[in-house]
Amino acid sequence: MKSSNFSIIPPAAAESLPSQTQEQNHSLLFSPIKLRELTSRNRVVVSPMCQYASVDGMPSDWHLVHLGKFATGGAGIVFCEETAVEARGRKTYGCAGIYTDEHVLAYRRITDFIRASGAIPAIQLGHAGRKASCGPPWTNFQPLTEEDAKNGMPPWRGISASAIAAKPGALVPESLDARQIEQIVQTWRTAALRALDAGFDICEIHGAHGYLIHQFLSPLANIRTDAWGGDIHRRMRLALDISETIRAVWPQDKPVFFRVSAVDGDGGAWSLDDTVILSACLRERGIDVVTCSSGGINGPLNMAVVPRTPGYQVPYAARVRREAGVQSCAVGLITDPFHAEEILQQGNADLIALAREMLVDPNWPVRAAQALGVSDYLDLLPNGYAWWLKRREQIREISPDVSNKNVNI
Ligand SMILES: Cc1cc2nc3c(=O)[nH]c(=O)nc-3n(C[C@H](O)[C@H](O)[C@H](O)COP(=O)(O)O)c2cc1C
Repeated sequence: MKSSNFSIIPPAAAESLPSQTQEQNHSLLFSPIKLRELTSRNRVVVSPMCQYASVDGMPSDWHLVHLGKFATGGAGIVFCEETAVEARGRKTYGCAGIYTDEHVLAYRRITDFIRASGAIPAIQLGHAGRKASCGPPWTNFQPLTEEDAKNGMPPWRGISASAIAAKPGALVPESLDARQIEQIVQTWRTAALRALDAGFDICEIHGAHGYLIHQFLSPLANIRTDAWGGDIHRRMRLALDISETIRAVWPQDKPVFFRVSAVDGDGGAWSLDDTVILSACLRERGIDVVTCSSGGINGPLNMAVVPRTPGYQVPYAARVRREAGVQSCAVGLITDPFHAEEILQQGNADLIALAREMLVDPNWPVRAAQALGVSDYLDLLPNGYAWWLKRREQIREISPDVSNKNVNI
């Protein structure tokens, strides 16, 4: 697992970086991090991953197993998928939601399990806006049609900053008026209160990937001429109002994250400079961590603009952290433990989020801790696993070729 491509800065140099407590063989990745009064056992974050497996927005046994295995696998923070603040804010009929009290009850079972496994339960709240009413990814997010209506899945009209369809074939969304915008802010507030009631400790506001908040931010989707459109400050208004409103109801001792698409629009309709401005404004409103992703307004970004190399979005997290003075979370093709460690040691991010690699190996944190020389790496696992595995280690130490001997294990 050890990679020769990445080098860890020697502990002496790392001590001078603006990082938090370093423990456990100087691995920052496996040092606890304090976010307000909440302490995560390490800096590995399971990134939100939509499952398209909900019915009426409800989480099911699938979600318990899917998220539960990341918590038992040793991650510090486990994010549920993007969870819609209202029914029409779902992308597909299979998307998760937290817009009724029944959702709250169903999520409690999941948050209890994540917490009991030593991880922090986190939720990403979202609203698809004009990207609503489509099929799952394996249909290439095909907009629903009257054909789908015959199968019980009628299309519905999304909402947005302006009446511009997300893509050819998609319904033109309703452009929200001032009163509707105020209402939508309250909808986010209600969802945050429900999320809190459901037992989540961290709330992330999804402001990326071309969804509603991002649609207001982007000049490609927002051609308004009122107080929510025009220059960047007006386009940021919805993002900042929602952040301020959620921060006011989310407990002061718990953190709020915000996910940005740090660059978007081929040709730079939204630049990293814009993201630094937005992140500084978010920090002023009490947002604790900015997660740096990219793209989404007109689909995935061109590979020539954002090449998908390991850690391709880390420079965004680094600049946001350095210039906006807010903690950042790096995400995107980070799979090697030494690479993850290096990002933290170099002060380029405060947290490391993984998505697809966790699907390959939900115990990635255990293997990463082992590779980084963290002595008690097995303690990331539940005791019912750790006890046996530690015993196996001891036996291996005594008898390296245990497999060839008749040893009672
Ligand atoms: C199955 C799947 C579902 C995803 N769903 C979400 C989501 O709900 N919200 C979000 O912000 N990003 C979502 N993403 C993006 C990931 O969180 C992550 O940013 C991206 O996959 C890059 O990280 P990776 O290279 O570690 O996979 C999803 C990715 C995958 C693979």
